[in-house]
Amino acid sequence: MVRNKSVRPSISIYLRSPVSHMLDLAAFSLHTLREDTTMSENKELVKLEIIDIKQPRNSDKDEPEETDSDEIGLDDDAEEQIGDFVVNAGGVYFRHEVKGEMVDIHVCSTLTIEAESRNKDGKDWGKLLMFSDPSGKRKTYHLRTSALAFQASQVVADLIHEGLRLGAQGRSRSLLIQYLHLLRSSNHVLSSSQPGWVNDNFLLPNESFGRQRVLLSNDSKPHNFRQAGTLDDWKTNVASLCPGNSRLLFGASVGFAAPILRLVNLEGGGFHVCGTSSTGKSTALQIASSIYGNAEEGNSDRYLINWDTTKGALEMAAESLNDCLFACDELGLIDADVLGPTLYMLANGTGKGRMGETKRAWRIMIFTSGEVSIAAHMATAGVETKMGQEVRLLQIAADAGKDMGMFEDIHGFSSPSEYANHIKNVTSLYYGEPLRVWLSQLVSERQAIAIAAQRIIERFKAVVLPGTVGAVTPRAAMRFGAVAAAGELATKLGLTGWNEGQAFDAAVTCFASWKVHLKTFDPTAKAVERVRHFIVDNEAHFADPTGGGDSTVGYYKKGAFLIFPEVFREQVCNGVDYQEVAEQIEKVGFLLTSGTNRRRRSGKVTHLCSARVTRCGNRIMV
Ligand SMILES: Nc1ncnc2c1ncn2[C@@H]1O[C@H](COP(=O)(O)OP(=O)(O)OP(=O)(O)O)[C@@H](O)[C@H]1O
Ligand SMILES: [Mg+2]
Repeated sequence: MVRNKSVRPSISIYLRSPVSHMLDLAAFSLHTLREDTTMSENKELVKLEIIDIKQPRNSDKDEPEETDSDEIGLDDDAEEQIGDFVVNAGGVYFRHEVKGEMVDIHVCSTLTIEAESRNKDGKDWGKLLMFSDPSGKRKTYHLRTSALAFQASQVVADLIHEGLRLGAQGRSRSLLIQYLHLLRSSNHVLSSSQPGWVNDNFLLPNESFGRQRVLLSNDSKPHNFRQAGTLDDWKTNVASLCPGNSRLLFGASVGFAAPILRLVNLEGGGFHVCGTSSTGKSTALQIASSIYGNAEEGNSDRYLINWDTTKGALEMAAESLNDCLFACDELGLIDADVLGPTLYMLANGTGKGRMGETKRAWRIMIFTSGEVSIAAHMATAGVETKMGQEVRLLQIAADAGKDMGMFEDIHGFSSPSEYANHIKNVTSLYYGEPLRVWLSQLVSERQAIAIAAQRIIERFKAVVLPGTVGAVTPRAAMRFGAVAAAGELATKLGLTGWNEGQAFDAAVTCFASWKVHLKTFDPTAKAVERVRHFIVDNEAHFADPTGGGDSTVGYYKKGAFLIFPEVFREQVCNGVDYQEVAEQIEKVGFLLTSGTNRRRRSGKVTHLCSARVTRCGNRIMV
């Protein structure tokens, strides 16, 4: 079903040879990888062999050529008949008989069809039209055929706006619509209503990557996937400032991770950097954004958006950033009472159902910052966060612990502030090209990259998960692992200039920061921490039952801490619901119980015959 919303077919500048019906695969050389080993035991994350390949990149974004109408498919003296219409270098004419004589009505300047388009489901048909504007610039116009039924006037207005000359006669307008209906082509290209993966190709608003050319069939509102400078410029001026700074390495890796979420079949969601003002939070978001587009503040086509908007507007933004980074600053600006549902919506990847419309859908990697945590912000509306919201937006402390806010190494700059300002400056100069190169690599070695990413994620989990409990932590580890994988693979493929392992280690550091935050909202983590804390503080007071010593807290026997029930109630739980604490630690296997009276199991202790104790496995100490 076609969405019933403002439809303005996309318009793009076209660079291909006008007479060619071949796909324009502007080939260029790049490095890509062959992943060829299993994970080794040593520090090496994954072995990758760098090879050169020719890569398809279908671009509509280059500078338009100056040309005249014979270059859009017709020789000076050529004439083509389409129904009652005649097309030649002079234009499109409606030829009809008036009192026995053939008369031409001028419909418009020369307008031809390059290809017909349809989406991967065989729907949303369209026509890729070609014409020249009055200055001779060649243009393409991607017409959604359904727009001819509902918004024909808008289509004509768009074409005129782009420079098609409409005939002066009264019938010219309706004849143009008739002519557009008649245009057919045996060339077929794919289209999609949103950027992102389309089969094995990746679509950006003005270009696509992969074997097949793909067109964006959605409306043509300005997009923010801008590009300035080369990959080397970005590496030298932006990426080079990240090493030594876990939050910056991690932030850039988040940017690279967005398009691989689908490759490793990971859910959408993201990260929230939280901390006091002027610590470099937005600066980190600017680094991530610069992979995609202009990160400069106050710029109308800035890639980085902010939360000062409605849920509906964020839904539209998410759709237009499908499979890409959703960088959104200043969390505190969104209405506190809509933050919770908005997080579910953004991470779950489906919009609101509306009558007569297809639901919007997307998968995005969210990267946000703010002075407030999700919980603190929602609390201002009297709402408590749910675990589901916390796990969709994993919180990292802005303070990296070196008294320099987000930074740990300011690369010789005189102050953290100067360092931040320098980063802001360079991210406004060099941007967008890393994404293009990354996508070229992803489409050409999709499977190898997916396998390599999966292995790095497994390696990441092996490093961070031992000793953790509950279902939330492994889920979070997958997302952190995907970021580690993206950073490592981008590095391996020559996109960052970082050393191997730096992105991985940064993700481990940021994961540790999240683990600290986890204790503030996860009841299981809180309960485990409470019991662990008590045991650590009182380890020396747990007596050996075989030694005959007395104890005020309990005993240590066969790998278990046996805590007296009253101590568990009054000292370990100290005012909180002890049954709830016991249930939580039992859930994750730290309370060794069985039988009906589960939280008060008899422990046979030699000189305390059948003392009733709470029996807690020593794994809790890991
Ligand atoms: N780590 C830092 N230490 C000191 N000053 C900093 C630091 N990071 C940034 N600044 C200063 O703060 C300014 C704003 O930086 P940035 O936008 O990254 O801050 P922020 O943490 O997002 O702050 P806010 O929460 O107010 O948005 C910079 O122009 C710089 O002068
Ligand atoms: Mg900020």
